[in-house]
Amino acid sequence: MKTFNANANVMDMFETGNVLKICAPMVRYSKLAFRSLVRKYNCDLCYTPMIVAADFMRSEKARDSEFTTCKGDRPLIVQFAANDAQTLADAASVVAPFSDGVDLNCGCPQRWAMSSGYGACLINKPELVKDMVRTVRDQVDEPNYSVSIKIRIHDDIRKTVDLCQKAESAGVSWITVHGRTAQERHQPVHYDGIKTIKDCVNIPVIANGDIKYLKDVETIHKLTGVDGVMSARGLLANPAMFSGFEDTPLHGDNLPFIMSLQWTAVAFFLYVEMGILLILCIPFISPKRWTRIFNCRLWSYVSRFWNKVFLTMIIILIVLFFDAVREVRKYSTKNAGTDAKLQPNMYDHLHMKLFRAQRNLYISGFAVFLWLVMKRVITMISQLASMSDTTAALQATADGANQASKKCMEDNERLKQALMEGSSDKATAEGMQLLREEVKKLKDGLKASDETLAKSHSEADVMKKQMEGLTREYDRLLREHQELQNRESTEDKKSA
Ligand SMILES: Cc1cc2nc3c(=O)[nH]c(=O)nc-3n(C[C@H](O)[C@H](O)[C@H](O)COP(=O)(O)O)c2cc1C
Repeated sequence: MKTFNANANVMDMFETGNVLKICAPMVRYSKLAFRSLVRKYNCDLCYTPMIVAADFMRSEKARDSEFTTCKGDRPLIVQFAANDAQTLADAASVVAPFSDGVDLNCGCPQRWAMSSGYGACLINKPELVKDMVRTVRDQVDEPNYSVSIKIRIHDDIRKTVDLCQKAESAGVSWITVHGRTAQERHQPVHYDGIKTIKDCVNIPVIANGDIKYLKDVETIHKLTGVDGVMSARGLLANPAMFSGFEDTPLHGDNLPFIMSLQWTAVAFFLYVEMGILLILCIPFISPKRWTRIFNCRLWSYVSRFWNKVFLTMIIILIVLFFDAVREVRKYSTKNAGTDAKLQPNMYDHLHMKLFRAQRNLYISGFAVFLWLVMKRVITMISQLASMSDTTAALQATADGANQASKKCMEDNERLKQALMEGSSDKATAEGMQLLREEVKKLKDGLKASDETLAKSHSEADVMKKQMEGLTREYDRLLREHQELQNRESTEDKKSA
């Protein structure tokens, strides 16, 4: 094997006073390629994935496949899982020329590891840990070569403090504390426990757990006073995390940003609704004017989709409302409160989340309410407008009829008065004039009738006289006829 001894003294790095940014040991991930990548982005120190020391020592194949490095891969810490001091020390001797230290895994909570005496079960064996640290120290000649441990905490933090102090007394270089117990998985990290440990030892302490952004480095440092921070999933999500790049691909923790965009949109919608309602309620815009607005081309085009838009919006808002209810319930649970008590900064965090969820609840609730009110108001304005149109038309007709009848009555009255009193005002004079003309017409008619009657009378007299003449003539003729008949009968008698 070729050696790459760059003589990096990690302990000197702690002396600079800067908070060290460290890439956590990660099985299958923190291999050479990944380490090279994160080193480009401000990562100060890298760990290899956990290697089982016994396997490493047993097989060359295991050594070749489990541990690969290169010249630029420094400073580098090789992490081992071990349950006996000598095997660990032997493995450390093998990797020492290619690395800057070894780390003993006392935090792996997996069942297979615990049952083999590796990982987190070691936090309950402080004497063994002490022995392992001391054996490595004694066996590896390089004085700057570090021996560190990575632990989880106990339910009773005093036990963890005891473990750390024992490891310190054995010559451990630093301690990395993953602030969760062996039973915890995604629960909030107990930074207060890390702080307690830091306060009780005189060696560097590294905090681990939920460090996902560059800003967390400073926050956790302030909170615990640690000398370095270690990130695993944060770096997996964003290998450039320690350099402050936040433009990571879509990932769990980016979701709140998208969520806040969504809630910003809902809040904006709420303000639009309030604006529209205010305009609708402006008193000097009459329903008639609204009808004119509603009858305009644009509105009639939009109104075709109005019902669909209304339904879609109501569904979206109701879904968001129930989502907000779910969030409020989530952050109001008893468990959340308990977690918060265990961890002071978590308390504020949870309160902030609860506050946001409640704010979202109010926003979506009001948005739904105002949307319904707006729909109702628009419908009522339309109805009012069409009713007032009808009323105005009826009113106009009634007014016309009233005026006509009023005029007639007035005329009648005037005529009556003119007839009765002969009043001299203009209307009466007109009435009188009309009457005079009417009387004149009647007189003329009467005169014409008289004349016709007189003419008829004289004609009747003439006819009467003619009739009398004719009657006399008829009587004479009748008499003559009688005489002739008498004469003829006498002659007949004679001749007979
Ligand atoms: C994929 C993966 C592999 C891990 N492998 C190891 C390991 O080999 N050794 C170890 O001590 N911890 C290992 N861990 C635990 C992490 O080092 C770290 O302690 C834990 O994930 C909490 O840190 P985080 O919140 O930054 O992820 C692993 C974690 C992950 C996610």
